[in-house]
Order: sequence, then structure tokens, then C-alpha cells
Amino acid sequence: MSPFQLTRTLPEDATDAALRADVRSGLTASPRTLPPKWFYDAHGSELFERITELPEYYPTRAEREILLARSGETAAASGARTLVELGSGSSQKTRHLLDALTGLHTYVPVDVSESALTRAGQALAAERPGLRVHALIADFTTSLTLPESPGPRLVAFLGGTVGNLLPDERAAFLSSLRALLAPGDTLLLGTDLVKDEEVLVRAYDDAAGVTAAFNKNVLAVINRELGADFDPAAFAHVAVWDPEREWIEMRLRSRTAQTVKIPGVGLVVDFAEGEELRTEVSAKFRKEGVRAELSAAGFALSRWWTDEQGRFALSLSVVRDDG
Ligand code: SAH
Ligand code: TRP
Repeated sequence: MSPFQLTRTLPEDATDAALRADVRSGLTASPRTLPPKWFYDAHGSELFERITELPEYYPTRAEREILLARSGETAAASGARTLVELGSGSSQKTRHLLDALTGLHTYVPVDVSESALTRAGQALAAERPGLRVHALIADFTTSLTLPESPGPRLVAFLGGTVGNLLPDERAAFLSSLRALLAPGDTLLLGTDLVKDEEVLVRAYDDAAGVTAAFNKNVLAVINRELGADFDPAAFAHVAVWDPEREWIEMRLRSRTAQTVKIPGVGLVVDFAEGEELRTEVSAKFRKEGVRAELSAAGFALSRWWTDEQGRFALSLSVVRDDG
């Protein structure tokens, strides 16, 4: 058993305050929205793991295929002694990277989901003697600070999770990530690619209804944390492709006119029949767009790899020495 350490960079009451602020501003906006990080309580993290195994949800398999083929090159190019992984979840695919990174000293999985982080971090520490595992409970969009550990660092951000940020949030996130890194550090970024609408929509609206349950889980989180009385059955799961913005939008559509009480934030919210609440976007990318966004934040794209079918891309970038 190698050392396992868990650090909470946000006090628990800050998480509560952040949820209240997000619910208050999101549910009084027009159209109504909620940020996606609140999907991932213990049950939400379990549902997401089931999504990764669905026949319709190709991104996980496509990204695993690329990691299997390219982890060796990534390890050689990065020479990393520390691997930081943002939104690490179950850390399953990361095993390929960990196998290849022979000189690795410390693995830093970062996630808002304490349950996923604890389970994955403890398993890895037990499996890999000699690897220091320092898990961080943190919101990578607001409060990321990295523990002391030897460089160079490789930051992995897999699963297409970067696409769950809106364009301006993405730009801010990439710039603040750049500011945490030093020349010689590298970024391994997973991005899902623009493709046939039907394939995309099915990946976010599966036949077994797991994604629908995942989407509605955010209502259960608000019920539990803020004493709200959302009836998940009174909302329908909706996934639509926006061809202009090239993203999938996940929504919850009110099946009837209804009123929901959210005592934790002192809100009473009226939903009209058919009114939609946006719970997530999942942007799909093209190579030149990824290169431009990285460049604007101070990263230079050095490798671009896709799976055999060209559905998903992993890119390796280096921190530019001018920032
Ligand atoms: N990397 C895994 C999991 C992807 S799901 C994979 O590729 O399969 C997205 C993960 O990011 C979840 O574990 C979720 O809890 C985490 N996450 C989402 N928003 C976050 C945020 N703002 N800060 C930290 N973690 C976040
Ligand atoms: N990062 C994942 C993605 O954009 C997250 C995800 C998959 C997701 N399926 C979802 C989020 C359904 C909300 C609802 O593919």
C-alpha cells in the first residue's frame, strides 16, 4: 500500500454556498439553467459509470482505444514525474497512462465527487506500491491549486469534460490552468469530435434510459441538499444538437405546469408546461478549433490523435515559454 492522501481545497460549507448560489441564479434566469458539476453525488457518479458502458455512448471506448495506442508516446514526450488528472472520476482509463509513465512519483486525481475520488484513489494506491496518490476534492473551474510534487507535470483532462464548459468558461479555465504550470509541463486533452447528429443524440439519449436518470439526478441532489420538492417523474429528459454552436444540449422539460419549492434558497419556481431547464452542454470539436483555444491560453498543440473511426481526439500540448 503506497501513501494515499485526500485534501479538500474547499470547506464543505463553501460547497453548500456554491450550490445555493448556482440554484438561485440558474433557476431565476431565463431560460433556466443549472451547472453540470452538481450531477455528481455518489449516485450520479455511479450512473455516469453506467453511461460509459452503454452501447450508444462511444466516447469512453474511443478514448480508451487512443490511450492504449498512445500512452507510451505521451509518457516519452512528457517525461512526467507528476500526473494531475482533472475530473478523474473512477480513474479507469488513466491506468493505461499510469502503466506507461515509468518515472512517475505522484498522481493527483482532482474531482468534486468525494465518493468517486476516495474509491479510485484508494484502489490505485493499493495496486501501485511506490506511487504517491494525493487526491484533491476541488472545483477545477474555481479553486485549483496543486500540491507540492516534482516536475515535469502532465495534466490529463479526459472524457470530453472540457466540452461541458461554455466557451467563455473554457477560455478562462484554460488560461488559469496555464498559470499553474511551468514551461516543459504538458496537457493531454480529450475532446469529442463533430459527427453525424444521430450518433451524437443517441449517445446522450440512450435506449435504456440511463442518461435520463443521470440528468434527473440533479433534481434529487437539490431535493436532498436544499429541501426542494422536485418530482423527477414530472420532467422529461431531452437531448438536442445545436448545429450552430456545435454542442449537445441536455435539458429537463416540465411535463405539466407545476410549482416547485426550494426552501434552502427561499425560492418558489413556476414551470410552464413544456418549459425547459438546461442542465448541460457537451461541445463537440474540430482540430483547428482546439488548436486555437489552446493557443489563446498559452499552450502549443504538438500531437493530435484520434481513434480508428475518427470519433474522438486526444491532443498533447506543451506549455508555451512566453507566458
Ligand atoms: N474522467 C472520467 C470521468 C468523466 S465525468 C472519464 O473520462 O470517464 C466528469 C467528471 O468530472 C466527474 O467525475 C465529475 O465529478 C467531475 N467534475 C465535473 N465538474 C467538475 C468541476 N467543476 N470540478 C471538479 N470536478 C468536476
Ligand atoms: N463529459 C461527458 C460528456 O460530455 C459527460 C456526460 C456524458 C453527460 N453523458 C452525459 C453529462 C449526460 C450530462 C448528461 O460526454
